[in-house]
Amino acid sequence: MQQTLLLIKPNAVRGGHIGDIISIIERDGFKVKKMKLLRFDENLAAEFYREHIGKSFYDKLVAFMCSGDSVALHLEKEDAIARLRELMGDVEPEKRKPGTIRALYGEDKTENGVHGSDSVESAVRELNIIFNRTRI
Ligand code: TYD
Ligand code: MG
Repeated sequence: MQQTLLLIKPNAVRGGHIGDIISIIERDGFKVKKMKLLRFDENLAAEFYREHIGKSFYDKLVAFMCSGDSVALHLEKEDAIARLRELMGDVEPEKRKPGTIRALYGEDKTENGVHGSDSVESAVRELNIIFNRTRI
């Protein structure tokens, strides 16, 4: 069994899509191991998105992530990381397959509804940041 982190981002929480997104992942057989509502601040966003510091979209990404509450889920499933990325859909709006979470609940490239860990190393790092170290 593999572990991964799903974040339901502020635009999807604002839009009232928490339940819809959790339904999609539960229907696919993911098990919810932990879940919490949290609000990113600049420090947490910088740690979480450290690989993107200095990129052109970084300030916009951080402002968005700090703009409202997010919901974090620790998920478990066989091949969870790749399967969640498949269900999520692409970061590029024009490459999102119909029915994927980002196609359904993403506004644009930045306000794209969800985050999913992209490797085992990222999943371990991100689950630790969100569930073991965040004070909220
Ligand atoms: P990235 O790691 O490339 O995508 P993914 O979330 O699919 O792993 O980028 C991280 C986040 O940064 C992405 O979810 C949205 C934001 N972003 C932008 O706002 N503009 C961009 O051009 C890119 C590449 C990402
Ligand atoms: Mg990424």
